[in-house]
Amino acid sequence: MRKPIIAGNWKMYKKLSEASQFVEALKNKVPSAEKVDAVICAPSIFLTSLVEAAKGTDLAIGAQNMHFEVEGAYTGEVSPSQLSDIDVQYVVLGHSERREYFNETDEAVNKKAIAAFENGLTPIICCGETLEEREAGQTVAKVSSQITAAIKGLTPEQVATSVIAYEPIWAIGTGKTATAADANETCGEIRSAIAQAVNEEVAQAVRIQYGGSVKPANVVELLSMEQIDGALVGGASLDAESYLQLLEAGA
Ligand code: G3H
Repeated sequence: MRKPIIAGNWKMYKKLSEASQFVEALKNKVPSAEKVDAVICAPSIFLTSLVEAAKGTDLAIGAQNMHFEVEGAYTGEVSPSQLSDIDVQYVVLGHSERREYFNETDEAVNKKAIAAFENGLTPIICCGETLEEREAGQTVAKVSSQITAAIKGLTPEQVATSVIAYEPIWAIGTGKTATAADANETCGEIRSAIAQAVNEEVAQAVRIQYGGSVKPANVVELLSMEQIDGALVGGASLDAESYLQLLEAGA
């Protein structure tokens, strides 16, 4: 039985005051971490304040990206040890927006996944196909190769505790959601790829989220699917009430 994980990805939205108000509004309402893992992945400039604000609650704070080096002359970057030093617990890796706009490669995502575990962070590793790839019947090949590349060199235990996020690129921020059945099928294919790359036990343990226009109106159906263990949510995670509804669906 895999525990659901609902992660909000705020992307480059909110001011600090709005971020603080969000956590304040949520504080006593977050469902128990025994039932659902609740995560907010915020812009790095807010992380210190949000970790502090969320202390004593079951809300975990995550970053949206990081460098793979622990330190160095990398202007503008944030390191895995800097994140773990301030008690950040999760980090989103290989989001399609980073792959597309910042040229993030499978190889970089892999180095970051290894660095995440070396520094006590749990990676949320993203994969997903474009509309053209979907229409060309390349979805399974694309997501399988992205995930196989990302987990290379991780121990079976590390793969088992990773979180995978399947996000069809054409469903992100568009209001178009993959049907629950389609999303379920692709998440199942990702699990098969992990079984092949590692083993069946690890594949059954790893949690796979769906992402792409998830909202309170469709989350229950998505989470009811056998292969879907949570959601990575952009737009609908920006409002505390809506995020809370997503958490309640997972609890
Ligand atoms: O990381 C989250 C995804 O990109 C989904 O964004 O829920 O706004 O479609 P969305």
